[in-house]
Amino acid sequence: MREKLTIAVVYGSARQGRFCDTVVNWALTELWAESGFRVVLVDPLQLKGAVEDAAVSEASLEAKIAEADAFIVVTPEYNHGYPAALKELIDSCYEPWHAKPVGFISYGGVSGGLRAVEQLRQVFAELHAVTVRDSVSFSNVWAQFDAAGNPFKAAEAKAGLIVMLRRLKWWARALKVARAENAYGGVTA
Ligand SMILES: Cc1cc2nc3c(=O)[nH]c(=O)nc-3n(C[C@H](O)[C@H](O)[C@H](O)COP(=O)(O)O)c2cc1C
Repeated sequence: MREKLTIAVVYGSARQGRFCDTVVNWALTELWAESGFRVVLVDPLQLKGAVEDAAVSEASLEAKIAEADAFIVVTPEYNHGYPAALKELIDSCYEPWHAKPVGFISYGGVSGGLRAVEQLRQVFAELHAVTVRDSVSFSNVWAQFDAAGNPFKAAEAKAGLIVMLRRLKWWARALKVARAENAYGGVTA
């Protein structure tokens, strides 16, 4: 039997009262309904003094990133970019991102966070990560979810997520095998 893939869901926002929780919770419900994944959560709040020992917190974040075979970054758009807290989290380690796929769920105003996603593609290329073309996007996000946190257009949102997940899984499986066969860091320029 094939080993389960571990997917890390990465929160893009560390803002108090963040909408990110609603979007992440929806994604988690859908992820848990899909078999074959182990899910870990990676939250920039861990770097914001939300826990007492910041060094321990950073180490545990790095361990979670290291154990992941793939990432789903759930990001809002702030001033046509992505949040500073997400950049801090991404920059907190280097090699644990290498040779792994990244999928995106974005949200925001009219652009649905897509400008943040396009910038993140450049960032992840520098980290030797592979970004997946297909993504899920919620424009005018505050009008997209009911009070219980369910999207009004649930079938459409789920369909987008499933496509992105299939792509992510393909890359995750392929790159897990490749990393096991040949250490990625062993390549010289
Ligand atoms: C500092 C700031 C800047 C924002 N800039 C944009 C923007 O450029 N484009 C956009 O579509 N939405 C923008 N928004 C709206 C956010 O995408 C929206 O409020 C989202 O819910 C924020 O995510 P969060 O609540 O999880 O932090 C901005 C919000 C904040 C707080």
